[in-house]
Amino acid sequence: ISTESQSILEAHQWLAKLYHHMLLNSKEGQDAYQYLIDRGFSEETIKKYQIGYSPNSKEFVVTFLEKKGFHPQTMVKAGLLNVNDQGEYADRFRGRLIFPLRNHLGKTVAFAGRSLGHQEPKYLNSPETELFQKNRLLYNFDLARAAIRKQKSVILFEGYVDVISADQAGVHNVVGTMGTSISSSQANLLKRYVDQVIICYDGDQPGVEAAMKAGRLLKNTGCQTFVARVPDGLDPDDFIQKHGGERFKREVLDTSDTFIAFIMSYLRRDYNLQLEGDRIAYIEKVLQEVALLDRAVEREHYLNELASEFQMSVDTLKEEVHHIRGKNT
Ligand code: UTP
Ligand code: MN
Ligand code: MN
Ligand code: MN
Ligand code: MN
Repeated sequence: ISTESQSILEAHQWLAKLYHHMLLNSKEGQDAYQYLIDRGFSEETIKKYQIGYSPNSKEFVVTFLEKKGFHPQTMVKAGLLNVNDQGEYADRFRGRLIFPLRNHLGKTVAFAGRSLGHQEPKYLNSPETELFQKNRLLYNFDLARAAIRKQKSVILFEGYVDVISADQAGVHNVVGTMGTSISSSQANLLKRYVDQVIICYDGDQPGVEAAMKAGRLLKNTGCQTFVARVPDGLDPDDFIQKHGGERFKREVLDTSDTFIAFIMSYLRRDYNLQLEGDRIAYIEKVLQEVALLDRAVEREHYLNELASEFQMSVDTLKEEVHHIRGKNT
């Protein structure tokens, strides 16, 4: 890697330590620490994830980095400092809770800063650098790798705190895709370790849409793909903090839908199945999805389900799928 990247990497290791120290030991960090405790995170967890706090001061981090001999311009490029027209530098993450983002080797290569009040954005992330590409990094993969390999299964969350909550609650094969769907490079990485993926995104519209995208990609990569549903408008962290890890396993993970069952219930919301026109359009859509399935037994399973729900012959449906598949190849 370039000397500039080397320097950015070093700065991140120092700052992760500094922010963490400020959270645990400084007066300025007390509210941030209490915020985490109130949200249900233990001190052990805070230490494991090296969660930190950046004091609400423009110069604190600037001075620290200067003393360590880092070039301010490089730090700006790394997204650690801001610079104004007068050439004055300021800490970009000041006043925020800090989540170090580690690469697969466990090195911190970026930060996510969560606002403690209501400032936008809620999470301020480091910009992309040579060391940090958002669609290549899976949050927590370094710590979760052993559990993922052992269980041949991984649970995908969209949020940092979902991952941390699940781990704290005893579910260790967990990674985060950081608010987006999943990229093909992330999917390919996971496929090397697992047979099965459970997507456990938020239940709101963006979460459901991201789950659709992620599910398609993971299926294409050859993973058995499931989608978990968190009830009552909670996100995974909310659910775990409220009901605990055991209930999360039993009621959320163990009741995950297969990807196609998820699609069927997703599509259902758009159609009034009492109406013939809607019903036909719905069946047509589902068949499009079934046609994408690689395994004949799987296709057959859903065709049987459709046939019995809508009192149709499986043969008709099969023929239709056959036709669609012919067109696709
Ligand atoms: P959410 O809005 O679901 O946040 O975003 P969360 O994980 O539940 O966090 P809490 O519980 O409010 O603290 C999910 C993920 O999307 C990305 C982050 O990776 C976040 O963890 N995100 C969200 C951003 O990058 N920026 C934002 O402003 C918001
Ligand atoms: Mn454990
Ligand atoms: Mn969300
Ligand atoms: Mn959320
Ligand atoms: Mn949340």
